[in-house]
Amino acid sequence: MEPKYKRVLLKLSGESLAGEKKSGIDFDTVLKICEPIKKCVDAGVEVAIVVGGGNFWRGRSSGKMDRTRADHMGMLATAINALGVCDALEQLGVDTRVQTAISMREIAEPYIRGKAIRHLEKGRVVVFGCGTGNPFFSTDSAASLRAAEIEADIILKATMVDGVYDCDPKINDDAVKYDTLSFGEVVEKQLKVMDGTAATMCRENDIPILVFSIERPMNIYDAVLGENIGTLVN
Ligand code: GTP
Repeated sequence: MEPKYKRVLLKLSGESLAGEKKSGIDFDTVLKICEPIKKCVDAGVEVAIVVGGGNFWRGRSSGKMDRTRADHMGMLATAINALGVCDALEQLGVDTRVQTAISMREIAEPYIRGKAIRHLEKGRVVVFGCGTGNPFFSTDSAASLRAAEIEADIILKATMVDGVYDCDPKINDDAVKYDTLSFGEVVEKQLKVMDGTAATMCRENDIPILVFSIERPMNIYDAVLGENIGTLVN
């Protein structure tokens, strides 16, 4: 089957890398997530990744720290995750590059759009670390920014839920999942697909978002094939 997309931006939450441990990195889990990514690359799809950092750091939400400093710590957490994901991909034989929005040249390349695109064209997976490099922006915003910059066809948002619901499915048994949504509906119904900044960025740049569960990692490959999973926002 032919992949539906040529270039995708995969957003991985930090929690997804922790597996059963719920925090830190569970390397077997990371390897399982990287298997479908390898399948995508083998099928000729260009894959860029933005990772969150919530498996290491959620200091922002405590309200007990200076917001900027807490966000800097979160950015470092995403850099750790980016290195972990790259290591797993390399173990599976996938060529990778890490690029960080905050310069840490001894560890990774700095983010340079042109180089990122060249890497993708050469079949390398590029993992973007440190979010946007700015406090007050989420890694969802980083995903939408990088997706716009590299002209990705879609953002694949792999999360802990299997799509977007009309209310919280963890609290309400009768929550209904949407198959498709417009950005207008997301705003109107105040659905939590991404934060407002990220959603606006996607809407203004015509970047669709597919929200799906990472509990079945092969969903990543199914998403790239255009199979009917999760919730598509466009
Ligand atoms: P092309 O040769 O252009 O296809 O890409 P390349 O990434 O292989 O070339 P380059 O010579 O830029 O990089 C060679 C290796 O050095 C790669 O593993 C890069 O990730 C790494 N590298 C390049 N720039 C930096 C940097 O600023 N910091 C770090 N830590 N590594 C870098």
